[in-house]
Parts: sequence; structure tokens; C-alpha cells
Amino acid sequence: MIKVAPSILSADFACLLREVQKMEAAGADWLHIDVMDGHFVPNITLGPLIVGALKGRTNLFLDTHLMVEQPELFVEAFYRAGAGSLTVHAETCYHLHRVIHSIKEKGMMAGVALNPATPIGVLEHLLPDLDLVLIMSVNPGFAGQDFIPAVLPKIEALAEEKNKKGLSFLIEVDGGINRDTSVQVVAAGAEVLVAGSALFQHANPETLIDAFKRTVPRERNV
Ligand code: DX5
Ligand code: ZN
Repeated sequence: MIKVAPSILSADFACLLREVQKMEAAGADWLHIDVMDGHFVPNITLGPLIVGALKGRTNLFLDTHLMVEQPELFVEAFYRAGAGSLTVHAETCYHLHRVIHSIKEKGMMAGVALNPATPIGVLEHLLPDLDLVLIMSVNPGFAGQDFIPAVLPKIEALAEEKNKKGLSFLIEVDGGINRDTSVQVVAAGAEVLVAGSALFQHANPETLIDAFKRTVPRERNV
């Protein structure tokens, strides 16, 4: 079953808990938390304080996407705050293997995110160690951008690699996901869908979450 992860980047921060509870009631599986540092991406958002504030106030799994330089400096802080997963960008890590293992040692799910222009080949020797691969379908930094279709073959190639090697990491796709693009990415192999503006701007998010979950996955398409 497809998992749905609303991105709080598109929530009304003045009433964040209410927004999160709305997504939980609407059937979301995870809560996607976009952490931006103003260096790796041209925007500044939130940090461990918000993760800590939400922990215990929602049952949603806290899926934390670090768009920050030197993410290794923040593993401990997000662990203490209660993050369920930590996903770091391959582009930000000199020692990706070390960072991933430091996340796993804390008992969190460990993920790597790839920008649209970064090939999956950079993960070739790391895939067996990963719990999550996050394929960015927009350039990270902002919600509400248009989906980049050029990432579809990348998702397909990653899904093939996963099947061929019998690996267990989840394939998550983030950026520009709506009813139409969700069908395309799920057909290509996505298993977790992140959606910000499409869900938070929807009058009835439960209908869209339901549609996302009913999308026909890759195996049944071939
Ligand atoms: C972009 C973030 C995304 C973004 C998704 O840098 O990583 O999670 O908030 O927002 P939408 O779904 O509006 O593209
Ligand atoms: Zn994200």
C-alpha cells in the first residue's frame, strides 16, 4: 500500500498542531518535515524544536528531510527531538556512509535524498544500508513547484535495482505531487508520496489521500 506523507511546509504555521491533526484524521501515514538552512537551499524553515513540539502530540511517523549542509552536526538533536527518520542529501555529505550509519545507530530510519540532477549511481554501494531513498522531483527549497518529469526514468531504474537485488529500502518521491503526477511516480515505482500544497490547499484532503493510496503500484502495472 502506498504511504502518504503530507509536508508541513505548506501548512498554516500559526496553527500547526491543528493542521497536523487534520492530516492525521484524513488518513496520512507519515508527516514530512522539511528542514532548510538557507545554505544548501535558498530558504530557511524549521528545526528540531518543531519536531520536538510535535512529538507526542501526533501519532504520525515523523519523516525528517534535512536540506542542510553538514547534516552530521544535527543527527543527535533530531534524534533527541523524536524524529522517526532522517534523510540527508547525498550532495551535502563528504562521508555519506558514515552519516547513514550514525543515523541507524540511533535507531532512526536512514534515508538519502537525491536532487533531480543527481544520478542514482552515487548510491550504488550504499543501497543495502538504506531504509529510504528520497527522489526529489523538484529542486529543493520551496513548496508549490512544478513536477520535473525527467525524474521518472530515475525512479524506474531505482525500482529495478531494488527488485533485482532484493533490497528493502522504500522509494519516496517529493515535489509537485498531485493526483496526476502521483499516478506517474507510483507506476514508476514510488512507494511513499510526499505532498505539500496539493494536500494542505485541498478542501477535503481525505479524498486526495485516499486517491493516492489507491494508485496502482508498479508490480501490478507490468
Ligand atoms: C521541497 C520540499 C518538499 C515540498 C513539497 O524542497 O522538500 O517536501 O514541501 O511541496 P509540494 O508538494 O508543494 O511540491
Ligand atoms: Zn521534502
